[in-house]
Amino acid sequence: MNDTYGAPDVVRIMDVEKPAPKDNELLIKVRATTVNRTDCGFRAAKPFFIRVISGIRKPKITILGSEFAGDVEAVGGGVTSFRPGDRVFGYADQTWGAHAEYMTIGEDGMVATIPAARSYGDVAAGTEGSHYALSFMRSAKVRAGHDVLIYGATGAIGSAAVQIAKSLGANIVAVCDTPNIELVTTLGADRVIDYTASDFTKDEQRYDAVFDAVGKITFGRCRRVLKPHGAYLSSDLGPLSQNLLLALVTRVLPGRTASVPLPRQNREVMNTLRDLIESGDFKPVVDRHYPLDRIVEAYVYVETGRKIGNVVLDVDDPGASVDEAGTSSVD
Ligand SMILES: NC(=O)c1ccc[n+]([C@@H]2O[C@H](COP(=O)([O-])OP(=O)(O)OC[C@H]3O[C@@H](n4cnc5c(N)ncnc54)[C@H](OP(=O)(O)O)[C@@H]3O)[C@@H](O)[C@H]2O)c1
Repeated sequence: MNDTYGAPDVVRIMDVEKPAPKDNELLIKVRATTVNRTDCGFRAAKPFFIRVISGIRKPKITILGSEFAGDVEAVGGGVTSFRPGDRVFGYADQTWGAHAEYMTIGEDGMVATIPAARSYGDVAAGTEGSHYALSFMRSAKVRAGHDVLIYGATGAIGSAAVQIAKSLGANIVAVCDTPNIELVTTLGADRVIDYTASDFTKDEQRYDAVFDAVGKITFGRCRRVLKPHGAYLSSDLGPLSQNLLLALVTRVLPGRTASVPLPRQNREVMNTLRDLIESGDFKPVVDRHYPLDRIVEAYVYVETGRKIGNVVLDVDDPGASVDEAGTSSVD
């Protein structure tokens, strides 16, 4: 838990009371969770305006953790769609609590049963980056035959975006660095541009949509490679929060647009992500596993901005094993 904002070491392992589910809630025994950029933002209160939601002087929520996979241990009296014993996964960036052995979530929240033959570790990272990626696709109305460029294809959002765009039948150009070209090709990119070797903005190809999945490029740089009605979408506000202003201005002007899509969180989105995992169209990329008691190290690693896909925390996962160095893995 963390009762103050700050660097990764504000997070401490403590004994806390087991939560009790309300009438419409599930009590979940967490088996696996993740440390992601959303957790980092709320732990550090960055950007600063997050405090309007999370508490001005100190965090209102002291146990973070947005993604989870585990077992339903009990349900409130009004719950009809889940039963004790169900294996579930989901996303809770409003009620949080997944960095603990037990958490609760409303039945109507982002929660669904785990598809057969998938482990907790397989699906724990199945919702954060992917719900942003899905929101990109829907916002740009990506469909079969569209030319789509995904910048930062190795991040949690980018690696999900490549797979979801592929499932929609888009032609994908992905941008990443040299060591990850093979991975990104495996995820479904039709062409990969190594950003250390060439600059896609000087290229001749034009796109219906450019997704900046790591917040490292700008609308100004991408404008030239967008088709006349093409869309630039970013997961970040950009330098001086310029993407907010650009979104307002380009919305009322004809031609190319810029936006920072706000993702929807509901059962339909959750079920879409579940279906993508079940069909095999989306397999969350996992870089590392850490046991829960090494959560501070997991935060430090995630904040390098260099993780490949996702970082999973094994909480009480019978499928995970811990090696001598203390790093865990899933069979
Ligand atoms: N809107 C929101 O509420 C929200 C929520 C979550 C995240 N975000 C933002 O979305 C962004 C992505 O999040 P994420 O979790 O997907 O990121 P991430 O997983 O932390 O992204 C890391 C990946 O980005 C790649 N990368 C780093 N610098 C790059 C560059 N200059 N060009 C291309 N690739 C680069 C890294 O690989 P290499 O270094 O090897 O290239 C690494 O694989 C972050 O900026 C985050 O703050 C926003």
